[in-house]
Amino acid sequence: MKDYQVNDDGYYGEFGGAYVPEILYGCVEELRKNYLPIIQSESFKNEFDGLLRDYVGRPSPLYLAPRLSERYGCRIYLKREDLNHTGAHKINNTIGQILIAKRMGKRRIIAETGAGQHGVATATVCALMNMECVVYMGKTDVERQHINVQKMEMLGATVYPVTSGNMTLKDATNEAIRDWCCHPSDTYYIIGSTVGPHPYPDMVARLQSVISEEIRKQLSLQEGRDYPDYLIACVGGGSNAAGTIYHYVNDDRVKIVLAEAGGKGIDTGMSAATIQLGKIGIIHGSKTLVMQSQDGQIEEPYSISAGLDYPGIGPIHANLATNKRATVLAINDDEALNAAFELTRLEGIIPALESAHALGALGKLRFRPEDVVVLTVSGRGDKDMETYIREMKNK
Ligand SMILES: Cc1ncc(COP(=O)(O)O)c(C=O)c1O
Repeated sequence: MKDYQVNDDGYYGEFGGAYVPEILYGCVEELRKNYLPIIQSESFKNEFDGLLRDYVGRPSPLYLAPRLSERYGCRIYLKREDLNHTGAHKINNTIGQILIAKRMGKRRIIAETGAGQHGVATATVCALMNMECVVYMGKTDVERQHINVQKMEMLGATVYPVTSGNMTLKDATNEAIRDWCCHPSDTYYIIGSTVGPHPYPDMVARLQSVISEEIRKQLSLQEGRDYPDYLIACVGGGSNAAGTIYHYVNDDRVKIVLAEAGGKGIDTGMSAATIQLGKIGIIHGSKTLVMQSQDGQIEEPYSISAGLDYPGIGPIHANLATNKRATVLAINDDEALNAAFELTRLEGIIPALESAHALGALGKLRFRPEDVVVLTVSGRGDKDMETYIREMKNK
């Protein structure tokens, strides 16, 4: 089988690399030289593992969901990232990156956020480590995820609403990069997904790989074999999916299913199904699939879920999809909403809208009764309650 991990130049096949303005070259290069020696050092591993255990609450359970399994005719395990401190997988990455920032002598942290989960996770670790925190968030997302804005402010972060473009994740990322260009020496940019210039996609995937490391151990104990037949995760930029598949990408016994946001339908012009609609291009420092017009202008993505409406995709996933190593399904808003209500009623778990897209994939696949399926519930639904309540009124 092909090797689907990053190569020494920061590419996954033809995707990835580091396309940055000259002013940022020095800090991206500094990070590239330092991230592996830091991550692989004993002192980092001890501190990272200790915080994941005692602060985040890891390992997250691998829960065999009986009624959901019966509904889809196979054995479905849910990897419960929703039970992490701050309510999503994002904290695995922010803990890791703040430890890296500290070791690189940086004091000021910036971040972008869509759903607000990465912003909250960043503000949380900044409070923990006593660092200054600035978060950029599109104004549309500030409005639809306002509880998370209030949490970030309570944690001591400054949140800047961004009013360019359609005022969502892409625009917040543009603004964070602009800030970084103005403060290249003292500022560390904690990117929240497997996007951005190399080494970010690989660094974030490694920090999130604790998810698949745990799946391996938990499946061994619970199923008597350390691999599933299917891994299913939603993809915005791709970090919970990258963490879920990390130790299995080169194992062809394991089928990988990625659920992207179809929005109102991939042919409606209101979609965020980047892998299916995108063409090769460069966004935020990385060569990947990008939703763009004929003349290369980035097209505004749309999804009901603030964490999935990004017009690019992590280069690792662009490569898996192009080589047909992963099956990519577009899950529309209504399918995700139905899947969220189904999980809630069958298992008593209210998922984040993003995770509901992964759940929406179940109905599009055909399983055998003996199939072992692991689906990552990337976050909890607290932040999406207003959307769910509105949906209940319309039902
Ligand atoms: C709960 C949750 N799941 C998934 C995502 C999508 O991000 P990624 O694809 O990096 O996992 C987000 C992004 O905000 C999120 O909050």
